[in-house]
Amino acid sequence: MPHILAIDQGTTSSRAILFNESLRPVASAQEEFPQHYPDSGWVEHDPEDIWQSVVRTCRDAVAQAGIDASDVAAIGITNQRETTLVWNRKTGEPIHRAIVWQDRRTAGFCREHAAHEAMVTERTGLILDPYFSGTKVRWILDNVEGARAAAEAGELAFGTVDSFLIWKLTGGAAHVTDATNASRTMLYDIHRGDWSAEVCEMLGVPLSMLPEVRDCAADFGTTDFLGPKIPVLGVAGDQQAATLGQACFEKGMMKSTYGTGCFALLNTGTKPVASQNRLLTTVAYQLDGQPTYALEGSIFIAGAVVQWLRDELGIIAAASDTQALAERADPKQRLYLVPAFTGLGAPHWDPEARGAIFGLTRGTGAAEFARAALESVGYQSRDLLEAMRADMGGLGETVLRVDGGMVPSEWAMQFLADILGAPVDRPEISETTALGAAWLAGMRAGIYGGPEEFARSWALDRRFEPVMEPKERDARYAGWTDAVKRVLMH
Ligand code: G3P
Repeated sequence: MPHILAIDQGTTSSRAILFNESLRPVASAQEEFPQHYPDSGWVEHDPEDIWQSVVRTCRDAVAQAGIDASDVAAIGITNQRETTLVWNRKTGEPIHRAIVWQDRRTAGFCREHAAHEAMVTERTGLILDPYFSGTKVRWILDNVEGARAAAEAGELAFGTVDSFLIWKLTGGAAHVTDATNASRTMLYDIHRGDWSAEVCEMLGVPLSMLPEVRDCAADFGTTDFLGPKIPVLGVAGDQQAATLGQACFEKGMMKSTYGTGCFALLNTGTKPVASQNRLLTTVAYQLDGQPTYALEGSIFIAGAVVQWLRDELGIIAAASDTQALAERADPKQRLYLVPAFTGLGAPHWDPEARGAIFGLTRGTGAAEFARAALESVGYQSRDLLEAMRADMGGLGETVLRVDGGMVPSEWAMQFLADILGAPVDRPEISETTALGAAWLAGMRAGIYGGPEEFARSWALDRRFEPVMEPKERDARYAGWTDAVKRVLMH
């Protein structure tokens, strides 16, 4: 029986999930790995931790499923995006730890080069922000001894995590990536579908370092790390893979993934839409050489606010306690928690903003904090939806498809529907990221059907309809907008 192995290499853990020939998950393994914070606002991963955790979880998942590795027909990879690796082509050794997407060390460079932002945005669809890979590559070349000379001599390779994993999986035979990951580097011209010489020159990144860009379903190379030779046939950045896993194939369809952060993608069809509201224009997926574009809103803190309640405030023992506390909260209190712990992402893009809480009274307790934390996720989603509405001149009958660690919370999902004033759909299979990667690889292997067939198989678990009175919704949202204004520094 053919199976597809999906590798989901995320920010805090690596996962491997095996899907059977009906695209159902049958076994999975997960491993967390260390985060390194060498300085304030810096976040790094050890490349060896990334690689070894992937190897172990894959072996584990295959063992758990009780299948032979020769039954794995293909591998699909999905990954934390933007995280930057540079390695030596000859030795395969990384020359620095991976600089993680959350890392803000290049904020100064971005500020000093603000004059180039219009050009960068026009080519790449992105904002000149430390979030993306481009300035991180430059930082490595500027700060690792001998790196720039080696890069100019063609000795170094750059890759996002997908690219690095494929390099390792193929023993250095393939230096490739897919169009979705390329579109997050800030080095890729999303209109021409090729690396932008102009942006690379501005950043001082030699073109010779960059991987070859392929479709999301393509031949990325062959690996024998499990024993038999297995092809890698699918690759997409994790948010794009979730967009596929949510079957958002049509223009106007939208998904939002609630993990550590929240990433909402709106399919805008085969023409890129330039945002007037500080959203990102990005490749949603590319099949048969045809890119489909999306507008993306990225929020840095979503589920992480619940972790903060648990780990820093200590007012809950487990994330799942939040729901019961929120239900008990005094509904008359209007507490606004703005979780700008690492600045604010879309649509504000203010790296210097910091978190704040407004509306405290003597009656405010743990329950109100929990409620405000869950509400902050809904309010931030509404900010994104407003920006998308403005960019698209309205969204019609929007439905938001949701996934990620927060969506089991009925309370949070109901509040989300209420504050958006739009239905929220939770799918039956919540592992949408891995599902998207597995589908890409399995489709390429000829095991799964194309987009239409996959879209028909997407099944709803529950729809949350908005029930809040429009007047209350508007008043609450106005309070949030005011709270955000007070934390902005730029
Ligand atoms: O853009 C960053 C995003 O791809 C990270 O996702 O789920 O690994 O935190 P995650």
